[in-house]
Amino acid sequence: MTPKNHNRKQGTIDIKNLCFSYEKDHPVLRGVNISIHNQERFGIIGPSGAGKSTLLLHLNGILYGQGTVRVGGREVNKDTAPEIRSRVGMVFQNPDDQLFNPTVEEDIAFGPLNMGLGPDEVRRRVKETLEEMRLQGYEKKTSHHLSFGERKRVALATVLAMRPEIVAFDEPFSNLDPSMVEQLLHIIKDLPATVVIVSQEIIPVAACCGRVAVLKEGQIITTGPSYEVVRDKDLLRSCSLDLSIYESVCKKIF
Ligand SMILES: Nc1ncnc2c1ncn2[C@@H]1O[C@H](COP(=O)(O)OP(=O)(O)OP(=O)(O)O)[C@@H](O)[C@H]1O
Ligand SMILES: [Mg+2]
Repeated sequence: MTPKNHNRKQGTIDIKNLCFSYEKDHPVLRGVNISIHNQERFGIIGPSGAGKSTLLLHLNGILYGQGTVRVGGREVNKDTAPEIRSRVGMVFQNPDDQLFNPTVEEDIAFGPLNMGLGPDEVRRRVKETLEEMRLQGYEKKTSHHLSFGERKRVALATVLAMRPEIVAFDEPFSNLDPSMVEQLLHIIKDLPATVVIVSQEIIPVAACCGRVAVLKEGQIITTGPSYEVVRDKDLLRSCSLDLSIYESVCKKIF
């Protein structure tokens, strides 16, 4: 394989017939098929309990099911997981699963340090990422004393500082104020990476993802261009994702 071909493939994700259960006789993922291109922004929307977080945890071998998951053409298994984890940055749904250092700057520096980067480069990345996430002034604060939305931004920063080839976001927009959602949409648009977002929030997902899949009860029921999928009110209603309730209020406000 030439280096050029390798580059084109490194951010791809291929999930084939993935099935997973936490408990016997209670399948959570039921034959999921998804193919994501290098550098694509791909959204997976679905109601609470559909299996979105569970699906995401298969991308870097935190969970293993039946079927295959390939990242950059390599199958995710116990042997490849350590290397794949260095390429797939995972932003968890709950920021407290991601933050464990005494200060914000130590949390952000942790990944780059683990990658073996030198102190100057680590400092540079921490500074740049703090600016990107509008966290200047938070360097010495303790993550666990921050608000949930602030912790969410720090958790995003810990992943972005590693500059992964693929960034997998679990509910990135929850608990962010509208200006931070706007900022995050810009960051996602400009990321030099493949981006996968799982979320119940269809409006910001449609704003930043070219394609969207709908996950319902562990199955992908449709995949298509974002705006086509989110305009299908019957489909969204059948998945408890219909936003019509907000439509009339928005019309009155704007
Ligand atoms: N560790 C676990 N053990 C047993 N069952 C689990 C576990 N984690 C999740 N589940 C179950 O698996 C199903 C899918 O959960 P998952 O968290 O993947 O859904 P989700 O689509 O991410 O939901 P949400 O939108 O609320 O985050 C749910 O029924 C949940 O109760
Ligand atoms: Mg979830």
